[in-house]
Amino acid sequence: MATALIILAAGQGTRMNSDLPKVLHPIAGAPMIVHAMASGAALEPERIVVVAGHGADAVERAVQAHDDGAIVVRQDEQLGTAHAVAQARAALDGFTGDVIVLYGDTPFIQPETLAAMAQARAAHDIVVLGFKAADPGRYGRLVMQGDTLDRIVEFKDASAEERAITLCNSGVLAADSATLFDLIDAVGNDNAAGEYYLTDVPELARARGLSATAVTCDEAETLGINTRAELARAEAAFQARARAAALEDGVTMQAPDTVFFARDTYLGRDAMIEPNVVFGPGVTVETGATIRAFSHLEGCHVSRGAIVGPYARLRPGAELSENTRVGNFVEIKNATLGEGAKVNHLSYIGDASVGEATNIGAGTVTCNYDGVFKHHTTIGARAFIGSDTMLIAPVTVGDEAMTASGSVITSNVPDGALALGRARQEIKPGFARRMFDRLKAAKARKQKEAE
Ligand code: UD1
Ligand code: MG
Repeated sequence: MATALIILAAGQGTRMNSDLPKVLHPIAGAPMIVHAMASGAALEPERIVVVAGHGADAVERAVQAHDDGAIVVRQDEQLGTAHAVAQARAALDGFTGDVIVLYGDTPFIQPETLAAMAQARAAHDIVVLGFKAADPGRYGRLVMQGDTLDRIVEFKDASAEERAITLCNSGVLAADSATLFDLIDAVGNDNAAGEYYLTDVPELARARGLSATAVTCDEAETLGINTRAELARAEAAFQARARAAALEDGVTMQAPDTVFFARDTYLGRDAMIEPNVVFGPGVTVETGATIRAFSHLEGCHVSRGAIVGPYARLRPGAELSENTRVGNFVEIKNATLGEGAKVNHLSYIGDASVGEATNIGAGTVTCNYDGVFKHHTTIGARAFIGSDTMLIAPVTVGDEAMTASGSVITSNVPDGALALGRARQEIKPGFARRMFDRLKAAKARKQKEAE
């Protein structure tokens, strides 16, 4: 069955106390709304429509950065969840099939849950996702009669008896597109909040002889985020799941609670992650690679057998081939290291390519930035860069070439050549001893004068 997603994300999120629209607050390095889009992606939707309002331009950029096919529509005034869904009508023109409504601030709905809803749709016109709440608080309540969802009552409008119900509304709803928009047209705003409630849809459907039911899921999935405290809890919940999944997938972590994942971190089997490692977005670590303690990785690829850290930083575009070594206090950005290349200590390698089996000495810097432009450094295979070499880009060092320690390399070094770019050493016999004697005598004089 063809599916379309409508993701509601127009609310301000007042309780976040933030200039950033609520749905753009990050969890595991990605905006909340991207997590919601990713849960919905399990249904392989034909269209994704996001309803934006507060901070709509920024929401649109984030949504389209994740999926440039997603459509963002505006809801200028937030008149309620049914009114929000109505804003998606034009964007779904010509679409026939099922619509699933998700909330941008409810990021953890699992694919299996959406699959169960799709399955329940075979027998029912409207399917709502509910959950047993430990503390039902202000959630809408599902009024059931056997398998039938009679109606949903919002907390504000509920009687004491209805408030005692613990089966709550997650907000996720599935229905045939034409049916849903028909019912939305019939929703009024005669209620305690004066809003157009999407939650009126089941009751309106039943009045027309259609059927409605609820599918339930774990409360953890429906975790909605309204405050910074809830955001922190959501982050913790995400990290706990990601750690458990990595261990399950054959990753070794000595202290999993100190390792932080991004939404899209990929770690191969038998990867070894030491304590206090942080993964930003876009990291792939292959089978059998080791990331040593206190390293920070983002937008990079680490191949089999590579060893990174301790205290290494891999920034976007770092591409480490097999069996490479990146050691302590080394930063790699937008640079490829060929197979077996080593950068072991205190170096910055940015906008560069380093050939296979090349050794980069301690304290080497690719001077890639002239204050306006970035320039590339190319280093060949089996080369040896002496410690404390400054490579002033753009510059090329050839295969099997060498630079002398302390060199400032400003012009290209041919294959097999040695480049020396430093002042020649002079020796002055006895000079140091004479100098010390003079200085010590001067100090003694000063002390005497002070007495
Ligand atoms: C809603 C449900 C409630 C459910 C709860 C689950 C309704 C009427 N109530 O209540 O039954 O238990 O979610 O969290 O649907 N939004 C818009 N435009 C609007 C209003 C809301 O885009 O005009 C978006 C919000 O940004 C948010 C979502 O819809 O992502 C839910 O809105 P919110 O105001 O949080 O609804 P609740 O009162 O929590
Ligand atoms: Mg809410």
